[in-house]
Amino acid sequence: MSQSSATSAASVKIRRLHPLPLRIMHWINAIAIFIMIGSGWKIYNDDVIFGFLHFPDGIVIGKWAQHGLQWHFFGMWIFVLNGIAYMIYGIASRRFRHKLFPISMREIFATVGDALHFRLSHDDLTRYNAVQKILYLGIMLVGICIVMSGLALWKPVQFSELAALFGSFQTIRLVHFLCMAAIVAFLLVHVTLALLVPKSLVAMITGGPALEDETARPVVAPSINAAQ
Ligand code: HEM
Repeated sequence: MSQSSATSAASVKIRRLHPLPLRIMHWINAIAIFIMIGSGWKIYNDDVIFGFLHFPDGIVIGKWAQHGLQWHFFGMWIFVLNGIAYMIYGIASRRFRHKLFPISMREIFATVGDALHFRLSHDDLTRYNAVQKILYLGIMLVGICIVMSGLALWKPVQFSELAALFGSFQTIRLVHFLCMAAIVAFLLVHVTLALLVPKSLVAMITGGPALEDETARPVVAPSINAAQ
């Protein structure tokens, strides 16, 4: 082995499928979402949007609406700060670029076809299929929208331009509610899939297999790679 290839091989980084910072942020996010949804339902019950929909006392967080609001603000800080950290991490580590892109129409049709025929395999944990990519990107957009509409509900005067983008106060409430419904729908699918493929759940706890870091800049020249 030449000196340059030995140096290159030595500098290849090994990382976990789900690095520790990602796992910590993922589980903090899960706890924050749990608090936000439970307390949000308590606040909603105080002034419902849909007359037929009240959330049972057993599944809400907070003894009364104001108490629910305190929980909601507590969860909000965790959700927002953790979400910003996740976004910065995902972009700076190039995880988003490598894991969530590109998404091709051909891949979407093939994955949806497989799903409809119950053939969706999840043997390879290192690659997200097209449906997963869309779901993960989609839920991040919903996360941004729920924070924006939440800010407009919380401080409609200070964030008056933002509030005006949504329209009336009732429209902002509706957007905020629909984002919550989208997160709950995502979670039903997401947690079901995690339980159906337990090794994906274990990997999100332990980190999963150790991989060569393909998100790092190439450290080995292509010709040296090919020769190995
Ligand atoms: C108890 C609740 C949850 C469980 C059991 C769970 C489980 C998992 C598992 C097993 C993975 C890895 C998927 C794979 O390798 O195929 C994952 C990834 C992910 N989950 Fe969750 N999750 C939960 C809550 C949430 C919540 C609340 C959100 C957002 C609202 C979320 C968003 C994501 C995202 C965006 C990824 C991809 C992360 C990345 O690779 O950068 N999860 N989750």
